[in-house]
Amino acid sequence: MQIVIFSAEPYDRLALDDVNRSFGHELVYHEAALSEKTAVLASGFPAICIFVNDQVNANVIQTLAQNGTKLIALRCAGFNNVDLAAADAAGITVVRVPAYSPNTVAEYTLGLILCLERKIHKAYLRVREENFALNGLLGSEMHGRVMGIVGTGKIGGLVARYFTAGLGCEVLAEDVYHNPEVIAMGVKYVSVDELFRRADIICLHRPLTPNTRHIINADTLRITKPGVAIINTGRGGLIDSAALLDSLESGHVGGAALDVYENEKQLFFRNLSEKVISDRIFRRLITLPNVLITGHQAFFSAEAMKSIANTTLENVTQFPAGKVDKEVIVSAR
Ligand code: NAI
Repeated sequence: MQIVIFSAEPYDRLALDDVNRSFGHELVYHEAALSEKTAVLASGFPAICIFVNDQVNANVIQTLAQNGTKLIALRCAGFNNVDLAAADAAGITVVRVPAYSPNTVAEYTLGLILCLERKIHKAYLRVREENFALNGLLGSEMHGRVMGIVGTGKIGGLVARYFTAGLGCEVLAEDVYHNPEVIAMGVKYVSVDELFRRADIICLHRPLTPNTRHIINADTLRITKPGVAIINTGRGGLIDSAALLDSLESGHVGGAALDVYENEKQLFFRNLSEKVISDRIFRRLITLPNVLITGHQAFFSAEAMKSIANTTLENVTQFPAGKVDKEVIVSAR
Protein backbone atom coordinates (compact mmCIF):
# COMPACT_ATOMS: atom_id res chain seq x y z
CA MET A 1 0.00 0.00 0.00
CA GLN A 2 1.10 3.61 -0.50
CA ILE A 3 1.67 5.28 2.86
CA VAL A 4 2.53 8.91 3.60
CA ILE A 5 4.56 9.22 6.77
CA PHE A 6 4.29 12.54 8.58
CA SER A 7 6.76 13.95 11.15
CA ALA A 8 9.39 11.63 9.72
CA GLU A 9 12.77 11.94 11.39
CA PRO A 10 15.88 10.14 10.10
CA TYR A 11 15.47 7.46 12.79
CA ASP A 12 11.88 6.81 11.67
CA ARG A 13 13.05 6.29 8.10
CA LEU A 14 15.78 3.90 9.20
CA ALA A 15 13.42 1.77 11.28
CA LEU A 16 10.54 1.77 8.78
CA ASP A 17 12.73 1.18 5.68
CA ASP A 18 14.49 -1.67 7.44
CA VAL A 19 11.28 -3.45 8.46
CA ASN A 20 9.56 -2.61 5.15
CA ARG A 21 11.96 -4.91 3.31
CA SER A 22 9.70 -7.74 4.36
CA PHE A 23 6.42 -5.85 3.77
CA GLY A 24 7.04 -4.04 0.46
CA HIS A 25 4.82 -1.00 1.01
CA GLU A 26 5.49 2.24 -0.85
CA LEU A 27 6.64 4.71 1.81
CA VAL A 28 6.70 8.47 1.18
CA TYR A 29 8.25 10.52 3.98
CA HIS A 30 7.53 14.09 5.03
CA GLU A 31 9.39 15.91 7.78
CA ALA A 32 6.36 18.15 8.25
CA ALA A 33 3.82 17.33 10.93
CA LEU A 34 0.27 16.62 9.81
CA SER A 35 -1.89 19.72 10.23
CA GLU A 36 -4.61 21.59 8.39
CA LYS A 37 -1.89 23.12 6.20
CA THR A 38 -0.11 19.86 5.36
CA ALA A 39 -3.06 17.46 5.07
CA VAL A 40 -3.09 17.88 1.28
CA LEU A 41 0.26 16.06 1.14
CA ALA A 42 -1.74 12.88 1.72
CA SER A 43 -3.85 13.36 -1.45
CA GLY A 44 -4.33 10.08 -3.24
CA PHE A 45 -2.71 7.99 -0.50
CA PRO A 46 -4.99 5.36 1.09
CA ALA A 47 -2.94 5.27 4.31
CA ILE A 48 -1.12 7.83 6.40
CA CYS A 49 1.21 7.23 9.30
CA ILE A 50 1.49 9.76 12.14
CA PHE A 51 3.12 10.29 15.53
CA VAL A 52 2.26 11.84 18.88
CA ASN A 53 2.19 15.52 17.93
CA ASP A 54 0.50 15.36 14.53
CA GLN A 55 -2.80 17.16 14.93
CA VAL A 56 -5.74 15.33 13.45
CA ASN A 57 -8.77 17.52 14.08
CA ALA A 58 -12.10 17.42 12.24
CA ASN A 59 -10.84 19.72 9.45
CA VAL A 60 -7.80 17.52 8.85
CA ILE A 61 -10.05 14.45 8.78
CA GLN A 62 -12.29 16.13 6.24
CA THR A 63 -9.35 16.91 3.93
CA LEU A 64 -7.99 13.40 4.30
CA ALA A 65 -11.36 11.79 3.57
CA GLN A 66 -11.98 14.01 0.53
CA ASN A 67 -8.59 13.03 -0.86
CA GLY A 68 -9.00 9.28 -0.53
CA THR A 69 -7.38 8.38 2.81
CA LYS A 70 -8.98 5.35 4.45
CA LEU A 71 -6.50 4.53 7.20
CA ILE A 72 -4.61 6.51 9.85
CA ALA A 73 -1.84 4.40 11.36
CA LEU A 74 -0.45 5.88 14.58
CA ARG A 75 3.12 4.79 15.23
CA CYS A 76 2.56 5.19 18.98
CA ALA A 77 0.22 3.98 21.72
CA GLY A 78 -1.53 7.24 22.69
CA PHE A 79 -4.26 8.60 20.36
CA ASN A 80 -5.31 11.78 22.18
CA ASN A 81 -4.28 13.86 19.13
CA VAL A 82 -6.91 12.32 16.82
CA ASP A 83 -10.56 13.37 16.63
CA LEU A 84 -11.92 9.83 16.68
CA ALA A 85 -15.57 10.84 16.29
CA ALA A 86 -14.70 12.79 13.13
CA ALA A 87 -12.68 9.83 11.81
CA ASP A 88 -15.58 7.43 12.48
CA ALA A 89 -18.02 9.77 10.76
CA ALA A 90 -15.72 10.04 7.72
CA GLY A 91 -15.27 6.27 7.50
CA ILE A 92 -11.53 6.47 8.26
CA THR A 93 -10.11 3.66 10.38
CA VAL A 94 -7.58 4.60 13.06
CA VAL A 95 -5.04 2.03 14.24
CA ARG A 96 -2.20 2.30 16.72
CA VAL A 97 0.61 0.33 18.31
CA PRO A 98 -0.96 -0.61 21.66
CA ALA A 99 2.23 -2.06 23.13
CA TYR A 100 5.69 -2.03 21.62
CA SER A 101 7.95 -2.37 24.57
CA PRO A 102 6.56 -1.27 27.92
CA ASN A 103 10.03 -2.05 29.33
CA THR A 104 11.47 0.77 27.26
CA VAL A 105 9.22 3.39 28.86
CA ALA A 106 9.22 1.85 32.35
CA GLU A 107 13.04 1.65 32.45
CA TYR A 108 13.30 5.24 31.29
CA THR A 109 10.90 6.30 34.06
CA LEU A 110 13.11 4.54 36.60
CA GLY A 111 16.13 6.34 35.16
CA LEU A 112 14.47 9.74 35.47
CA ILE A 113 13.45 9.11 39.07
CA LEU A 114 16.91 7.96 40.18
CA CYS A 115 18.54 10.83 38.31
CA LEU A 116 16.27 13.38 39.97
CA GLU A 117 16.47 11.87 43.45
CA ARG A 118 20.29 11.64 43.41
CA LYS A 119 20.81 14.87 41.43
CA ILE A 120 22.83 13.10 38.75
CA HIS A 121 21.77 15.69 36.15
CA LYS A 122 23.45 18.40 38.23
CA ALA A 123 26.56 16.32 38.97
CA TYR A 124 27.04 15.62 35.25
CA LEU A 125 27.19 19.33 34.46
CA ARG A 126 29.49 20.10 37.40
CA VAL A 127 32.04 17.45 36.52
CA ARG A 128 32.25 18.76 32.94
CA GLU A 129 33.54 21.98 34.49
CA GLU A 130 35.98 20.19 36.80
CA ASN A 131 33.75 21.03 39.75
CA PHE A 132 33.81 18.03 42.08
CA ALA A 133 32.21 19.72 45.08
CA LEU A 134 29.31 17.80 46.63
CA ASN A 135 27.51 20.74 48.25
CA GLY A 136 23.98 20.85 46.88
CA LEU A 137 24.04 17.29 45.61
CA LEU A 138 22.64 15.57 48.68
CA GLY A 139 20.10 12.99 47.52
CA SER A 140 17.61 10.60 49.08
CA GLU A 141 17.54 6.83 48.78
CA MET A 142 14.49 5.08 47.38
CA HIS A 143 14.30 2.28 49.91
CA GLY A 144 11.32 2.74 52.24
CA ARG A 145 9.87 5.73 50.36
CA VAL A 146 6.22 5.86 49.33
CA MET A 147 5.70 5.68 45.56
CA GLY A 148 2.32 6.61 44.10
CA ILE A 149 1.62 5.14 40.69
CA VAL A 150 -1.33 6.63 38.81
CA GLY A 151 -2.23 4.05 36.16
CA THR A 152 -1.05 0.46 36.56
CA GLY A 153 -1.38 -0.72 32.96
CA LYS A 154 1.51 -2.17 30.98
CA ILE A 155 4.01 0.57 31.85
CA GLY A 156 2.80 1.49 35.36
CA GLY A 157 2.67 -2.21 36.25
CA LEU A 158 6.34 -2.63 35.37
CA VAL A 159 7.29 0.51 37.29
CA ALA A 160 5.40 -0.92 40.28
CA ARG A 161 7.49 -4.10 40.00
CA TYR A 162 10.79 -2.16 39.99
CA PHE A 163 9.80 -0.17 43.05
CA THR A 164 8.46 -3.09 45.08
CA ALA A 165 10.76 -6.01 44.31
CA GLY A 166 13.78 -4.00 43.17
CA LEU A 167 13.92 -0.98 45.45
CA GLY A 168 11.86 -1.89 48.50
CA CYS A 169 9.45 1.02 48.37
CA GLU A 170 5.91 1.09 49.67
CA VAL A 171 3.87 1.36 46.48
CA LEU A 172 0.37 2.86 46.35
CA ALA A 173 -1.57 2.75 43.12
CA GLU A 174 -4.72 4.14 41.57
CA ASP A 175 -6.50 2.67 38.57
CA VAL A 176 -10.08 1.83 37.60
CA TYR A 177 -8.89 -1.75 37.15
CA HIS A 178 -7.23 -3.41 40.15
CA ASN A 179 -4.73 -5.70 38.48
CA PRO A 180 -4.25 -8.94 40.51
CA GLU A 181 -0.64 -9.24 39.28
CA VAL A 182 0.08 -5.79 40.69
CA ILE A 183 -1.65 -6.62 43.99
CA ALA A 184 0.49 -9.78 44.20
CA MET A 185 3.59 -7.55 44.13
CA GLY A 186 2.43 -6.02 47.41
CA VAL A 187 1.03 -2.85 45.85
CA LYS A 188 -1.97 -1.32 47.59
CA TYR A 189 -4.75 0.24 45.50
CA VAL A 190 -6.04 3.42 47.15
CA SER A 191 -8.17 6.40 46.12
CA VAL A 192 -6.41 9.04 44.06
CA ASP A 193 -6.92 11.38 47.01
CA GLU A 194 -5.08 9.06 49.42
CA LEU A 195 -2.32 8.51 46.87
CA PHE A 196 -1.78 12.25 46.45
CA ARG A 197 -1.75 12.78 50.24
CA ARG A 198 0.69 9.97 51.05
CA ALA A 199 3.15 9.59 48.17
CA ASP A 200 6.71 10.91 48.27
CA ILE A 201 6.93 10.43 44.52
CA ILE A 202 3.95 10.50 42.14
CA CYS A 203 4.35 8.79 38.80
CA LEU A 204 1.82 9.27 35.96
CA HIS A 205 1.07 6.37 33.60
CA ARG A 206 -2.48 7.05 32.49
CA PRO A 207 -3.56 7.88 28.95
CA LEU A 208 -4.66 11.45 28.27
CA THR A 209 -8.46 11.66 27.97
CA PRO A 210 -10.97 14.37 28.94
CA ASN A 211 -11.25 12.56 32.32
CA THR A 212 -7.53 12.47 33.02
CA ARG A 213 -6.56 15.95 31.76
CA HIS A 214 -4.87 18.01 34.49
CA ILE A 215 -5.12 15.36 37.18
CA ILE A 216 -2.16 17.24 38.61
CA ASN A 217 -3.55 20.73 39.19
CA ALA A 218 -3.48 23.45 41.85
CA ASP A 219 -6.08 21.62 43.99
CA THR A 220 -4.46 18.18 43.84
CA LEU A 221 -0.99 19.66 44.37
CA ARG A 222 -2.25 21.41 47.50
CA ILE A 223 -2.99 18.05 49.18
CA THR A 224 0.36 16.46 48.26
CA LYS A 225 3.18 16.10 50.77
CA PRO A 226 5.66 18.98 50.99
CA GLY A 227 8.71 17.97 48.96
CA VAL A 228 6.79 15.55 46.72
CA ALA A 229 8.36 14.69 43.36
CA ILE A 230 6.16 14.55 40.24
CA ILE A 231 7.20 12.23 37.41
CA ASN A 232 5.44 12.25 34.05
CA THR A 233 6.26 9.92 31.18
CA GLY A 234 2.56 9.62 30.26
CA ARG A 235 1.25 12.65 28.39
CA GLY A 236 1.91 16.34 29.02
CA GLY A 237 -1.77 17.22 29.40
CA LEU A 238 -2.02 15.13 32.58
CA ILE A 239 -0.37 18.08 34.35
CA ASP A 240 -1.49 21.70 34.57
CA SER A 241 2.01 23.05 33.92
CA ALA A 242 1.31 26.53 35.30
CA ALA A 243 0.12 25.01 38.59
CA LEU A 244 3.16 22.74 38.76
CA LEU A 245 5.48 25.69 38.14
CA ASP A 246 3.78 27.72 40.90
CA SER A 247 4.11 24.83 43.32
CA LEU A 248 7.77 24.26 42.45
CA GLU A 249 8.53 27.97 42.84
CA SER A 250 6.76 28.09 46.19
CA GLY A 251 8.97 25.21 47.33
CA HIS A 252 6.04 22.84 47.97
CA VAL A 253 6.85 20.41 45.15
CA GLY A 254 10.40 19.23 45.69
CA GLY A 255 11.19 18.16 42.15
CA ALA A 256 9.79 17.12 38.80
CA ALA A 257 10.99 14.85 36.03
CA LEU A 258 9.00 15.29 32.84
CA ASP A 259 9.44 13.49 29.55
CA VAL A 260 6.26 15.00 28.18
CA TYR A 261 4.89 18.54 28.30
CA GLU A 262 1.46 20.06 27.73
CA ASN A 263 2.50 22.25 24.80
CA GLU A 264 5.25 19.99 23.55
CA LYS A 265 4.04 20.03 19.97
CA GLN A 266 5.50 23.55 19.65
CA LEU A 267 8.84 22.33 21.02
CA PHE A 268 9.80 18.70 20.96
CA PHE A 269 11.48 16.59 18.26
CA ARG A 270 13.42 19.48 16.74
CA ASN A 271 16.49 21.59 17.42
CA LEU A 272 15.38 24.99 18.72
CA SER A 273 18.77 26.01 20.09
CA GLU A 274 18.95 29.04 17.76
CA LYS A 275 15.39 30.17 18.55
CA VAL A 276 13.75 32.02 21.41
CA ILE A 277 11.21 29.80 23.09
CA SER A 278 8.09 31.83 23.65
CA ASP A 279 6.44 29.41 26.10
CA ARG A 280 7.27 31.19 29.35
CA ILE A 281 6.16 28.37 31.61
CA PHE A 282 8.45 25.95 29.82
CA ARG A 283 11.34 28.43 29.87
CA ARG A 284 10.93 28.85 33.63
CA LEU A 285 10.63 25.11 34.22
CA ILE A 286 13.87 24.27 32.41
CA THR A 287 15.83 26.75 34.51
CA LEU A 288 14.87 25.19 37.86
CA PRO A 289 17.58 23.02 39.40
CA ASN A 290 15.07 20.47 40.69
CA VAL A 291 13.39 19.97 37.31
CA LEU A 292 14.57 17.45 34.77
CA ILE A 293 12.97 17.61 31.35
CA THR A 294 13.54 15.40 28.33
CA GLY A 295 11.88 15.77 24.94
CA HIS A 296 9.47 12.82 24.77
CA GLN A 297 12.27 10.31 24.64
CA ALA A 298 10.99 7.50 26.86
CA PHE A 299 9.86 5.39 23.87
CA PHE A 300 13.16 5.82 22.05
CA SER A 301 15.09 2.55 22.19
CA ALA A 302 16.33 0.40 19.33
CA GLU A 303 14.01 -2.40 20.44
CA ALA A 304 10.96 -0.17 20.60
CA MET A 305 11.65 1.51 17.24
CA LYS A 306 11.86 -1.87 15.55
CA SER A 307 8.72 -3.11 17.25
CA ILE A 308 6.79 0.09 16.43
CA ALA A 309 7.81 -0.10 12.75
CA ASN A 310 6.86 -3.75 12.56
CA THR A 311 3.42 -3.38 14.16
CA THR A 312 2.65 -0.23 12.15
CA LEU A 313 3.40 -1.88 8.81
CA GLU A 314 1.63 -5.07 9.88
CA ASN A 315 -1.47 -3.00 10.77
CA VAL A 316 -1.41 -1.42 7.28
CA THR A 317 -0.91 -4.82 5.65
CA GLN A 318 -3.89 -6.37 7.43
CA PHE A 319 -6.23 -3.41 6.82
CA PRO A 320 -7.44 -4.11 3.24
CA ALA A 321 -8.50 -7.66 4.15
CA GLY A 322 -10.28 -6.40 7.30
CA LYS A 323 -7.96 -8.49 9.44
CA VAL A 324 -6.60 -5.76 11.73
CA ASP A 325 -6.52 -6.92 15.34
CA LYS A 326 -9.43 -5.44 17.35
CA GLU A 327 -6.91 -4.35 19.99
CA VAL A 328 -5.14 -1.99 17.60
CA ILE A 329 -8.24 -0.22 16.27
CA VAL A 330 -9.20 2.95 18.11
CA SER A 331 -12.65 4.36 17.69
CA ALA A 332 -14.98 6.82 19.43
CA ARG A 333 -17.68 4.11 19.44
P1 NAI B 1 -2.22 0.95 29.40
O1 NAI B 1 -3.46 1.15 28.58
O2 NAI B 1 -1.63 -0.40 29.49
O3 NAI B 1 -2.47 1.48 30.90
C1 NAI B 1 -3.22 2.63 31.20
C2 NAI B 1 -3.90 2.38 32.55
O4 NAI B 1 -4.62 3.58 32.88
C3 NAI B 1 -4.91 1.23 32.51
O5 NAI B 1 -4.62 0.33 33.54
C4 NAI B 1 -6.28 1.92 32.69
O6 NAI B 1 -7.19 1.12 33.44
C5 NAI B 1 -5.88 3.20 33.44
N1 NAI B 1 -6.84 4.29 33.21
C6 NAI B 1 -7.17 4.86 32.05
N2 NAI B 1 -8.05 5.85 32.24
C7 NAI B 1 -8.29 5.90 33.58
C8 NAI B 1 -9.12 6.71 34.39
N3 NAI B 1 -9.88 7.68 33.88
N4 NAI B 1 -9.12 6.48 35.73
C9 NAI B 1 -8.35 5.51 36.27
N5 NAI B 1 -7.55 4.69 35.53
C10 NAI B 1 -7.52 4.89 34.21
O7 NAI B 1 -1.16 2.00 28.82
P2 NAI B 1 0.43 1.95 28.94
O8 NAI B 1 0.99 1.19 27.81
O9 NAI B 1 0.80 1.57 30.33
O10 NAI B 1 0.80 3.48 28.65
C11 NAI B 1 0.35 4.53 29.52
C12 NAI B 1 0.53 5.85 28.80
O11 NAI B 1 1.91 6.13 28.63
C13 NAI B 1 -0.03 5.86 27.34
O12 NAI B 1 -1.41 6.17 27.33
C14 NAI B 1 0.79 6.92 26.65
O13 NAI B 1 0.08 8.14 26.67
C15 NAI B 1 2.06 7.01 27.52
N6 NAI B 1 3.27 6.65 26.78
C16 NAI B 1 4.30 7.52 26.75
C17 NAI B 1 5.46 7.22 26.07
C18 NAI B 1 6.65 8.15 26.05
O14 NAI B 1 7.52 8.01 25.16
N7 NAI B 1 6.78 9.10 26.97
C19 NAI B 1 5.58 5.97 25.32
C20 NAI B 1 4.45 5.08 25.46
C21 NAI B 1 3.33 5.43 26.16
